[in-house]
Amino acid sequence: MTTGKLVLLTSVSVVGLCVAVACASGGTEPSAAAGSRAVGAAPAEPAADAPKEGTLEWYMKTKVKAGMSAGKLDEVKEALKKLPDWAPEPSWNEGPTGWKAIVATATAPDGNVGKACKGCHETWQKLYKEKYKDRILPK
Ligand code: HEC
Repeated sequence: MTTGKLVLLTSVSVVGLCVAVACASGGTEPSAAAGSRAVGAAPAEPAADAPKEGTLEWYMKTKVKAGMSAGKLDEVKEALKKLPDWAPEPSWNEGPTGWKAIVATATAPDGNVGKACKGCHETWQKLYKEKYKDRILPK
């Protein structure tokens, strides 16, 4: 076991810290610093920045991106097909940069799914986050 070694290492580094921040001037600072470091090392708050279930961000991360990571392109295509129905404003489905067109191109038999991600995000991601971040998707 290396526990003994670890303890030794830790105390050496605490001493080093003491010297670095001049322990003589109070003496409590080094241990406070060590304390906060220990807290920082603890596991983060349970996913404080995890997307709320039912939002588009959640859908993107758990369905779309997860499918891409797993290489399941057919599932990703199916997942993308729902997006035009979920466009928050009818105008977002209009024209060549609209959700409908992007998804239709991506989900065609020879469609490039990867290209659709970037294309749609470039045009819509910022806007969506600004206006609809917490919107729960329709069923
Ligand atoms: C038709 C539009 C559209 C397509 C196609 C699309 N996305 Fe998205 N995606 C969005 C929008 C809009 C957001 C912003 C949602 C939010 O964060 O509130 C988003 C957000 C994301 C996020 C969350 C990013 C973050 O950090 O907030 C991931 C991950 C993501 N998309 C993955 C993908 C992948 C992978 C693909 C392609 C397989 C894809 N998306 C295709 C519209 C699209």
